[in-house]
Amino acid sequence: MSRLAHRRIHVCVCGGIAAYKAVEIVRALQKEGATVQVALTPNAQSFIAPLTFQAITHLPVLTRTLDASEEHAIGHIEFAQHCDAIVVAPATANLIGKAALGLGDDIVSTVLLAATVPVVVAPAMNTAMYVHQAVQRNIEILRTFGWHLVTPESGQLACGTVGPGRLAPPEEVVDAVVRSLGMSVGKPARPGPLTGRKVLVSAGPTREHFDPVRFLSNPSTGRAGFAIAEAAAEAGAEVTLVHGPVSLAPPKGVRAVAVVSAAEMHAAILAEFAAADAVVMSAAVSDWRPAEVLEHKAKKSGEVEALALVRTADILADLGARRRAAGPGPVLVGFAAETRDVVAYAQGKLTAKAVDLVVANDVSAPGSGFGTETNQVWLVEADHVEALPLQSKRAVADRIVAWLVTRLSGEVTL
Ligand code: CTP
Repeated sequence: MSRLAHRRIHVCVCGGIAAYKAVEIVRALQKEGATVQVALTPNAQSFIAPLTFQAITHLPVLTRTLDASEEHAIGHIEFAQHCDAIVVAPATANLIGKAALGLGDDIVSTVLLAATVPVVVAPAMNTAMYVHQAVQRNIEILRTFGWHLVTPESGQLACGTVGPGRLAPPEEVVDAVVRSLGMSVGKPARPGPLTGRKVLVSAGPTREHFDPVRFLSNPSTGRAGFAIAEAAAEAGAEVTLVHGPVSLAPPKGVRAVAVVSAAEMHAAILAEFAAADAVVMSAAVSDWRPAEVLEHKAKKSGEVEALALVRTADILADLGARRRAAGPGPVLVGFAAETRDVVAYAQGKLTAKAVDLVVANDVSAPGSGFGTETNQVWLVEADHVEALPLQSKRAVADRIVAWLVTRLSGEVTL
């Protein structure tokens, strides 16, 4: 394939043990027809020499911002802007943090500040570092820049631990570059246990307007649902993500449908429901909406004194009722945000909404709930309750997807 013919891709390498794998990424980009030029941080040069990249790219390698001869050959601004895309691989926790803060104290962070082209970031680091709240928060910030994150793989790491943090394979990085340029990769991201399955995920808050500029809402950021959509897509599923107003970019390979109100979310979900194999309702849907929506902005000198509210439809309960009425249907997963008697309330929702699994959390517990990077949840089924440890929202998502895989393959318990 030459999906990157006539394209110029600049690769930034940071100082991690995976730096040597950047050679494979450069080679894979070249095989797709790209012209590649490389920049190395000072720490990256402790792992791999500039000469290696110069030999395979036949182009000078950037290593310093303040070097007169390098700036003469190709300045860092030119490197940041005169290409079709920039790839950072491996991206260390340090570089991700600097980029999230907008710092520029080495060649790579400076290039990223000046970048005007699509940026693809492939993190690689120790698992504890990767799941650290600060790193996860910084990764979310990079997503809000519109940058493309290539999720690391899980497996045995150089430090001996097992878990997420291993640099994604070169072909995934290349696919991310192809996608970042607005092209289709022409194949599913990765075949997996959910290949051939359709998973519908809802995420984020809804907004219930009472005039064009004012609304009722809640602090949901959508992170938990976006992580589930990402994990399901990586497991091979065809994923539709119906989400309320959030500041996250949709995960790669996921079809996103943006909505505003509970009623719009309900309609969007019903449109997909019949075809879905599983529905995960992680959205924080507003339970009420203003009884009346004003056409024009209300003036404070004017008529509004009290807001009359009416209930919104319970989307999940509606899906449960439809499935009960029509026979077999998609696997249904709901969420329960509670502040006390978490498992008991979750068991109540399991029955009341006729769903298969309730993912329950105590939103008042430290590290759990709205706006956090982590979550501690219980997986509540009719005959089984499992408490999971406090972990990143992505790790929780992986666990929920593992539950879906087991359930969809016909086994009832984990
Ligand atoms: N949900 C929904 N439609 C609504 C409200 C909630 O589909 N109008 C879904 C949520 O996406 C979640 C689940 O129902 O999966 C639980 O919502 P939660 O707000 O925790 O509970 P409620 O059912 O609203 O009950 P209560 O407020 O009494 O806790």
